[in-house]
Amino acid sequence: MNKNLTHTKDLSKNNIINILKRAEIFLDEKKRDILNGKLVINIFFENSTRTRSSFEIASKRLGADVVNLDVSRSSTSKGETLYDTAMNLDSMGPDAIVVRHKNAGVPKILSKYVKASIVNAGDGAHQHPSQGLLDLFTITKHFNTYDLSNKTIAIVGDIKNSRVANSDIELFQRFGAKIILVTPPHFLPNKKLPYTFDIKEIIDEVDVIISLRTQTERHTNPTYASLADYGHNFKITKEILGNRDLIVMHPGPVHRNIDLSDEVMSDERCKVLEQVKNGVAVRMAILEHLLKD
Ligand code: NCD
Repeated sequence: MNKNLTHTKDLSKNNIINILKRAEIFLDEKKRDILNGKLVINIFFENSTRTRSSFEIASKRLGADVVNLDVSRSSTSKGETLYDTAMNLDSMGPDAIVVRHKNAGVPKILSKYVKASIVNAGDGAHQHPSQGLLDLFTITKHFNTYDLSNKTIAIVGDIKNSRVANSDIELFQRFGAKIILVTPPHFLPNKKLPYTFDIKEIIDEVDVIISLRTQTERHTNPTYASLADYGHNFKITKEILGNRDLIVMHPGPVHRNIDLSDEVMSDERCKVLEQVKNGVAVRMAILEHLLKD
C-alpha cells in the first residue's frame, strides 16, 4: 500500500470507495481512538482556513496528537532548506506530515526522504487530493451512487490555476462523470475536455456546478481590471439556476457575488457548508487509511 497521499492517483478505485464508506460513518462527529498514540504534524507554507483546521479536527477526532507548525515562525524563514526542515520534523517521530506549499511537487519530493506518511494539502496549482475526495464524497452522497456515468459536472472559473480542479477532474472521470469546463479562454487548462464560455448553453444538462475562486495569487499578469468584471460573465446566479434539479459546490474561500451570488449561497442546492462538514469526515477516513496499523 502507498503510505502517502500526494496525488489522487496514489489511491485505487477500491481504496477510494473504502475511504468514502468510512467517511459516511465518521459523519457522526464522534471521537474515536483509532489513531491513539499517533502523531500528526501540520505544516502549511501557504494560507489556509478550512484545510488546516479540517486536518487538525480529523486527527483529534481519531485520537491522534497534532502539532501545527506556524511556518512564518519556523526556521525556513531563517534560511533552512525545506529538506532540512522536513528531516528535522521527521526525526521527532511523526506518523504523518500534512503539507501545503506554493510549489507543485513539494509533497512528492519530501515523501522520498521522510519516514512519516506525507499528505498533500495542496501544492501550487498541481493537486489537492483531500479536497478532490471530499468533493467526490459530497456528489456520490447526494446522488446516492458511486456510478457517475450519467452525471454531468460543470467546473466554472480559473481552472488553469486550480489544484482543486486537477484533483476533481481526475477523480470524477474515474467514476464515470462527464465534465464540461466553463471558463474564459485564458483560464482554460491544457486538457482535452469539452468547454464553453457561457454556462447558459449547457445548464440544462448539468447535475453539478463546481465554482472556483479566481487564483489571483498565481497570476503573473492581472487578467481582469477587477474581479467584478470576471463575475459579470461567470457568477452563478439564481437566474441561471432557475428551478433546475442540480447542486452547486465551491471549495472555498468563496468570492461572494463574484463566484456565487448571495441568493445562491443561501439556496438549499448550495452545498458549500456541507462540503466543509464532509471534509472532516473524509480526512478522518484518509488518515485512517494511511496510518492505521
Ligand atoms: C482551495 C485551495 O487552497 O486550493 N481551498 C481549499 O483548500 N478549500 C481553493 C482556493 O484557494 O481557491
